[in-house]
Amino acid sequence: SVKQTKFGELPILVIQHKSCCAAVSLQGAHLLFWQPSTEQTPVIWLSKQSKFEKGIAIRGGVPICWPWFGPLGTPSHGFARIVEWTLDSCNEDDDGVDLVLVLSNNQQTKPYFDKPFNVSLKIHLGKTCEVALSCSGEFEATSALHTYFGIDNINHVVVKGLGDTYQDRLTVENKPVTIGQMTFNQEVDRIYTNANTEITISDNVRTIKLTTTNASDVVTWNPWIDKAKAMADFCDDEYQSMVCVEAGRINKPLKLSLNEQSTYGFKIELI
Ligand code: BG6
Repeated sequence: SVKQTKFGELPILVIQHKSCCAAVSLQGAHLLFWQPSTEQTPVIWLSKQSKFEKGIAIRGGVPICWPWFGPLGTPSHGFARIVEWTLDSCNEDDDGVDLVLVLSNNQQTKPYFDKPFNVSLKIHLGKTCEVALSCSGEFEATSALHTYFGIDNINHVVVKGLGDTYQDRLTVENKPVTIGQMTFNQEVDRIYTNANTEITISDNVRTIKLTTTNASDVVTWNPWIDKAKAMADFCDDEYQSMVCVEAGRINKPLKLSLNEQSTYGFKIELI
């Protein structure tokens, strides 16, 4: 079933299916969590301290960074995550629930961006979780599907398949011991520019496979201790139970036209 409710100020779709439970916020077309029925804990993670306020980014889930990533514009990570989208369709069958959410230039988006555009986000929630962003307009957009994965313990996490080149967004010296592979013992914020389309995130409990389609970059992020303490919408110890591994279009922006859709996305499965 799909039921609409509210968390704080925000309208939320709550999905209960034999294959999974999940929730999606209309603000941001933001998948808040997803837990297949085989799992004891959410695979898509949400902070206990997230705000659910109009115009404020949600902490966790899958924030849609569009039409710019990070500090390339204001607000940071674009406006798509802080405006309300429209539910265009919702279908349920034996495999799960399929949602399509859409956003076009309107009064809400005008203060941030003045060009016409259409964005749609397809989400499949079942035994797997699939997200695809399609957009059109006459400009170049950078973007990331800023996925927060729930993990058992950051000290046990190994991310594989990241490829041999990355841009470090921090100045700290922390070179990977094995090329294309990451373990975590301090803050990380990297843009991998040549990652495999198949990436695995393993801890002592499970292995999550992330398959990307048409992404040019994969961002890895964990705020670690000091940044976690500095974030008002993130508990001090939550850096231990999440890691962001994000399919993105940063170094190869989406080159948009008005009459053709550009699409990229990902699929998550437990292996
Ligand atoms: C990551 C960026 O993708 O998102 C980080 O690489 C940033 O630099 C993080 O801190 C969280 O961003 P925000 O705006 O949601 O706090």
